[in-house]
Amino acid sequence: MDSAAAGRPGGVSDVRRFPAEVVAALRGAEKVAVLTGAGVSAESGIPTFRDALSGLWASYDPEELATPRAFRRNPSLVWRWYRERRHRVAECDPNPGHLALARLQDLVPRLTLITQNVDGLHQRAGSREVIELHGNIGRVKCADEDRVVTEFADTEEPPRCPECGGLLRPDIVWFGELLPPLAIERAQHAAQLADVFLSVGTSNLVEPAASLPWMAARSGVLVAVVNTSDEGQGFGPRIHHLLGKSGDVLPDLVRTAWPAVSIPAR
Ligand code: OAD
Repeated sequence: MDSAAAGRPGGVSDVRRFPAEVVAALRGAEKVAVLTGAGVSAESGIPTFRDALSGLWASYDPEELATPRAFRRNPSLVWRWYRERRHRVAECDPNPGHLALARLQDLVPRLTLITQNVDGLHQRAGSREVIELHGNIGRVKCADEDRVVTEFADTEEPPRCPECGGLLRPDIVWFGELLPPLAIERAQHAAQLADVFLSVGTSNLVEPAASLPWMAARSGVLVAVVNTSDEGQGFGPRIHHLLGKSGDVLPDLVRTAWPAVSIPAR
């Protein structure tokens, strides 16, 4: 476990130093897999899951609201929570961490971006073929037919499905629901076959995403963790901890591996 990369040195270039093994592996990688969590969007102003809910929602626990049962019991409350989050996400912009990952996709032959986030900021930053394990807050689906509905009214109360009249709900994977099977299969495949696996801004607490770094490490993939903390991230001896904010670490890492590349600043 190498967290030598942490400190941003003084010195001539203010770019942080990284383990040579990580830089060389990234530079020479054919396939890179990246798993992101709420931490990568924190610098865009979107609270992480383990941040306490604030404002109107301070008295709720996300795990009480993000369930099919909560929606059945009080569809209006759950819809309004997601509607407010959708509005907040629409006001946020991708940060340099998102932009660095989008740039990295053009620098390596094959990059698979797997996200637990539902905010769509990776796509807005330019990342392509993003695997959204937990859905997308900008999409809704019929709660009865489980079919995505493209047009919907942004009303206070949950709108109705144009086909069957059932309630529309966010197209988000709730606690107790299964992930899209193809998405997790593609993610596991990418993690095991990668040359480098980056885990960025996730507490690694929620399965099956939490197993991806372990699968990669067991397959001999070089795993680097970008996080402001190294708590709960010890996936094995060959793990590199790149401690710091992803909005700083990721652009620095890309610039270190490809010095001529520019990453848009904040
Ligand atoms: P968490 O809130 O559990 O974890 C956020 C992680 O990001 C923590 O490890 C922080 O240390 C780290 N972090 C915070 N700010 C950071 C920054 N600026 N740069 C780098 N790291 C930073 O969020 P997730 O791990 O994404 O699932 O949570 C996983 C899942 O739990 C979510 O997708 C959601 C939730 O239940 C569902 O809703 C199904």
